[in-house]
Order: sequence, then structure tokens, then C-alpha cells
Amino acid sequence: MMAMLEIENLHVAIDGKEILRGIDLSLEPGKTYAIMGPNGSGKSTLSHVLAGNDKYEVTQGRVTLEGKDLLTMTPEERAGEGFFLGFQYPVEIPGVAGTTFLKTALNSVRKFRGEDELDAMQFLKVVRSKAKEIGVSDEMLKRSVNVGFSGGEKKRNEILQMAILEPKLGVLDETDSGLDIDALKTVADGVNRLSGPNRTMLVITHYQRLLNYIVPDEIHVLVNGKIVATGDKELAHELEKTGYCMFLDEEAA
Ligand SMILES: Nc1ncnc2c1ncn2[C@@H]1O[C@H](COP(=O)(O)OP(=O)(O)OP(=O)(O)O)[C@@H](O)[C@H]1O
Ligand SMILES: [Mg+2]
Repeated sequence: MMAMLEIENLHVAIDGKEILRGIDLSLEPGKTYAIMGPNGSGKSTLSHVLAGNDKYEVTQGRVTLEGKDLLTMTPEERAGEGFFLGFQYPVEIPGVAGTTFLKTALNSVRKFRGEDELDAMQFLKVVRSKAKEIGVSDEMLKRSVNVGFSGGEKKRNEILQMAILEPKLGVLDETDSGLDIDALKTVADGVNRLSGPNRTMLVITHYQRLLNYIVPDEIHVLVNGKIVATGDKELAHELEKTGYCMFLDEEAA
């Protein structure tokens, strides 16, 4: 079976400093993965590189999405091919209403896939039903994207965006940060609802707590730009008890 995402020996630098130091990761369709790791270990860097942020320099390695070279694609092509990133810090877009933003994003992805664009009425039907599922109010949809949203509202908005775009690979960075317990469940629900045979979810998190609601098939631990451990959900429980110190010691030695 072809991997959804294949990362081989990925090295990434920013301003000449090496942040990712040889990542190998293979994600299969239909599975959910978690990446955990201490602050500054390179988790967000990995997600930004996958999304095509040009601040980061890939110095070595290869990444393919369903066999296609991801790193040579523009960010728009990546989205069109089915990549989605939910940011750790969602961007505010003053002056652009949520619905307008979502409609533009969806139609550009549909166009890329060779599907008809949705008109205003068709789109409203889609957005209303998904927004209701995820708990995003009509009032929030009318406001400028993320402007003045609380941390939890921003995260819900990211999940809504993902639910509407229906990506093949959804990467969520720190989706649990700043969420109250009900919002956490809503978000996890959104991820779980979207999971399916031809989808892959990658959740980046600090906390075992989120993994009570989104049960990953595999957990990878990223420390200092390298994957140092791989396991199932039991690994998250162990980390909750021990922290990352055993890996940090190993790294220093
Ligand atoms: N623009 C930049 N200039 C210099 N260093 C940077 C820059 N962006 C990121 N870094 C460094 O890269 C390292 C990895 O950062 P990254 O944001 O990927 O960590 P993270 O694992 O997501 O951490 P957290 O758990 O706190 O979100 C950090 O040491 C950070 O300071
Ligand atoms: Mg981060």
C-alpha cells in the first residue's frame, strides 16, 4: 500500500540553524498519528515545512504525499492535493468574513480537483451543517476570520475549515491548547468524524489528555529535531508520568 505521507531523512534549518535533524516518518491512509515532544523540539517546524512555509530551508531529505513530491509544490498545490494544516497560532484576517474565507478556500480546492465551484446557496448549506456540528455560531462566521476570537474559538474555527476542505492529510498543531473540556471534546469529535479509510490525521500535542479522545494508532516522540521513540497510546501514559527527561539525557550523552 502506498503511504499517504512519506518523510525520508528530512533536515530543516532556519537562519542557518538546524532544527530538524533527520526525520523519517511514514503515515498510512486511514490511520491517526500523534507527535509529542518538549517545547522547541521542532514539532511546529515540521508542520510548517509540510505546509510549504518558505522561511524554513530544507537542507536534505524527501517528502511525498501519495507518492508525489510535496516539497516542490506551492502551498496552494499542497492544499489542492489534499494537505491541511491547522496552525498552533491561527492567523487573524481583518476585513474578511469567515464565510467568505471558507468559500474561497473550498472553491479553490474544488477547482484544483476539477470539481465545479459551489455557488453562495450551495456553500451556505455546507457551511451551516458543518458549523452546527462543530459548534461555530452564525455570529462567529460573519465576523472577520479569527479577529477577537478566544483561543478555543480559533481552534474550533480551524476544525471547521478542515471539515469543509475534507483533506486527505490533516495536520493539527496543538489543537488542545487553550481549549476547555467541552471544546476539547468537540474538536476531538471533529477529528474523529473526519477520520476514514482514505484519510490520515496527524495530531501534534503536549498532553496525553487529548489522546483520551483522539486515539492514535501510533505515537512518535520528537526531541531535539529527531524522532527518539515510537509506540502506541501507552507511550503517552508513560510520558505523562516520566516527562521527557530520559530522552533528553540520551540526547545529551
Ligand atoms: N524564526 C526562527 N528563528 C530562529 N529560531 C527559530 C525560528 N523559528 C523556530 N526557531 C527555533 O526552532 C526550534 C523549534 O521550534 P518549534 O516551534 O518547531 O518547536 P515546537 O516543538 O513546536 O515547540 P512548542 O512545543 O513550544 O510548540 C526552537 O528552538 C525555536 O526557537
Ligand atoms: Mg509548536
